[in-house]
Order: sequence, then C-alpha cells, then structure tokens
Amino acid sequence: MTSPPKPPSRSTSRDLERYAGLFAARTRVMTSSAMRDMMAVTARPEVISLAGGLPDTSTFPPETLAAITARIAQESSAKALQYGPTDGLPETKECIAEVMRAEGMRVDTEDVVVTTGGQQVIDLVVKTLIDPGDVVIAEGPTYPGAVPTFNAYQADVVQIDMDSEGMRVDLLEETIDALEREGRRLKFIYTVPTFQNPAGATMSLARRKRLVEIANDRELLVLEDNPYGLLRYEGEPLPPLYSLDGGVYVMYLGTFSKILSPGIRLGWVVAPPPVLEKINVGKQGADLCTSTLSQLMVQAYFERGDWQEYVQALTGVYRPRRDAMLEALGEFFPREAEWTRPDGGMFVWATLPDYIDTTDLLARALRDNVAFVPGQGAFLDGRGRSSMRLNFSASGEDRIREGIRRIGQVIDEQMDLYGTLTGEMKAPSGEEIEAAREADDVHEGARVVELRHRSEARSGAGGA
Ligand SMILES: Cc1ncc(COP(=O)(O)O)c(C=O)c1O
Repeated sequence: MTSPPKPPSRSTSRDLERYAGLFAARTRVMTSSAMRDMMAVTARPEVISLAGGLPDTSTFPPETLAAITARIAQESSAKALQYGPTDGLPETKECIAEVMRAEGMRVDTEDVVVTTGGQQVIDLVVKTLIDPGDVVIAEGPTYPGAVPTFNAYQADVVQIDMDSEGMRVDLLEETIDALEREGRRLKFIYTVPTFQNPAGATMSLARRKRLVEIANDRELLVLEDNPYGLLRYEGEPLPPLYSLDGGVYVMYLGTFSKILSPGIRLGWVVAPPPVLEKINVGKQGADLCTSTLSQLMVQAYFERGDWQEYVQALTGVYRPRRDAMLEALGEFFPREAEWTRPDGGMFVWATLPDYIDTTDLLARALRDNVAFVPGQGAFLDGRGRSSMRLNFSASGEDRIREGIRRIGQVIDEQMDLYGTLTGEMKAPSGEEIEAAREADDVHEGARVVELRHRSEARSGAGGA
C-alpha cells in the first residue's frame, strides 16, 4: 500500500492552486491583522516593540496566580475542567457586574454573556448583525483588530474622522442621512470612546450625550468597546455610553485583558435581550462556552478583594511610561510630526508629513530593531499611510525612549532623502532645536497637537 501524500510544509504556487478552488468567497476579502502579523518579528528580544497592545503582565504577582490556581485545584477541580453554560458562569458574571459598577454602570447579570476575550464580542456582534454589504460606522482610525472581522463578514465600513474629543459626532448625522439617501443599510456604530485604540483620544461628554441621543432618535445600535476605561492617568472619568443610554441601544464590550490578563481570554458583552439571544446562539457555534478554568480564576481572584489595587498599581506603572514616550517624541520626532496626548490607555497616535509612508518606514525601522504599527491598518480605505500607533504599556521608560529615538532617526533619514530629491528643507527636529537652544539660548518647545485629519492639518482647520 502506498502512503498518502504528505501535507506541504510551506505554500508553493502549486499548493495554492490545489486548495484555492475550495476556499469560500469570503476569504477573498479576509485580511490579516497588521498587529498579529508582526508578533513573530517583535517577539525577538533585541527588538524594541512599540507595536503590540500588550499589557505588562510581569506586574501581576506570581504568588497571587499560584494561590488562585491552587485554590481552584483543591476546591473545584472537576468543575474547572468541565464544559460550562454558553453564556458563562453566574459567579463570573457577578465579577463582571462589579467591574462595571466601578465604572458607574448598573447591569443585570441576565443581560451579560461571558466571551472568549473582547475580540469574540466584535466577531459575534458582526456575525449577528451584518449581511454582506451592510454598513458599520466606525471611527477613523479604528481598532486595527476589528478590521479583519469587518472584512471577514463583508461589512461596508464608513469611517468618521476623529479629533482630540473622539469621533466627530457632528459629522455623524449627515453621514447617516447620506447613507439613507444612497439606500445603504446602516446596522450599527462601533466606537472605542475612552482612550481609543489606536488614537488615544477620549470622546467628550457632550459628544457622548449626542451620540446616545442620535442612536435613540434613529433607533440605531451602538457597540461601545471599552477595554481601557479603568486605565486613567489623569482627569476625571466620563460616563460610559452604556450608562447614559441604560442599555437600550448601546451594547457594551468589556474585557479582563487590560485589568488582569489577556492570557485568560475573558471578556463579556451586554446587549438588549433579543440581540443577546442571537449572540448566544452565535457563540454556541463558535466555541460552545468560554474556558471554565479561566472563569473560575477570575472568580477566585475577585474573592480576594484587591483587584482594584492591582489596577491602581498598573496605572502607576503605565503613567510614567506614557510621560516618557511623550517626552521622547518631543525630543526626537521632527517639528512636522503631530501626536496625541492620551489621558489613559496604552497608545499614542503620531502623524508624519504626507510624503512619508509608515509601512515603508517600518521596514527600515525593523532593521534598527524597533517596531510600531503603521496607520494604514486602522483604516479600511487606504488612509493612515503617514500615521503610526505607538504603544507605551509594554516597555520600560528607557526602552521607550530608545525606541522613539531610533524611529526619530529613521524619520530624519527619510525627510533628508525627500529634501535632497525635492530641494525642500525640513524643519529642525526637537533634538536639533535643543542643540540650537543650548548654542544661542533660543526657547522653542516641540509641539503636542491634537489629533487632526491630514487635510485639516494642511488647511489649518480645527474640527469640533
Ligand atoms: C479596542 C479593543 N477592543 C477589543 C480588544 C480585544 O481584546 P481581548 O480580546 O484581549 O479582550 C482590544 C485589544 O487590544 C482592543 O484594544
């Protein structure tokens, strides 16, 4: 008997031919996440990665993890190793209600489905609401990890510009009107209103209220994605959209990833009962239930009563990292660059002169062992080419400073090259200004400017 042919270890064009005819039509529009593609490169220890959205899990006390897991093994081993209900364990839902209370929200645990990370919520909501060609309104830029999900379900994503107060809600109504005139079917609005990934911006209270009002008037669903709300380094907390609307039109995504661990893959969704029912059925087909072991770990952790202290410790670690990044940007990025100044979360969004393509820049930066996420991954329409997302939660201050210095150097090289080719002179960098200041005592600080769209930046228009 002849043995069956071995599966190929790496794709060749012949293999592609062999399988291509079997792929579903949707795979033609499926894309890979910019961030996940880079994880293999950025995992190398010599690379300073400002790319990932990783929390610093080394801050979690190993003895706490040991105590939690030992307790589960002793007291509920059989349960931890068993399947659980699709919508999650009641005791885990109590912990979720506690986290939501800490952010000013009241929730009935019957309105909660425990999920395998917040990412699964995006997948399930899109799966539940979107037929190919249906419209989702999102921020521009939007969370890069949602882009492959929108693509996989063939959503038509319309992105609304942002400024330092988050989504330009003043543009929302005219966008909705235009969609209606064109006969396109808007299904929901996706937003990360607090310490947005990737822009770092937070939606103002006035815009939050207006967004909820529009959703109510027009009977539109909103998905509020809020992984970062508790990671605030300054300023007063703002009410989540969910608390302003009371859960009528606002669906809420929460996660333990950024306040405890992304490794346990635990998130949740709150939605109106008819929507939640469909989400629950969708989840059955996806994974039957979320890991029981992870759910019991959260429960055991919350019973200790100190989860908020850990969140506080995290903010104490991340705040100086954010400050180090902002300081380094002022020092090493050119005067023509703009960047956001987040009050919390994990990201700064920087925009360079139009002629710099950050995807090309990344290839060059990786040779200097530093990485960021090119801005294009946060748009579905090719915008964002001159922008980049920079993460400050995963590296210590010294590495952040060195990483920004290296990126600044690569940008300088590109700008010099552009200047040589076009005969245009570039403005001096923060570092050069510093040198000049020392030489003749000129004082001119580097700019920290609000997030603006490039065309506005050129024309000097502000935006609401
Ligand atoms: C805005 C946003 N939504 C959802 C997620 C998914 O997080 P997880 O699946 O780890 O809960 C992330 C992770 O970075 C995020 O930034």
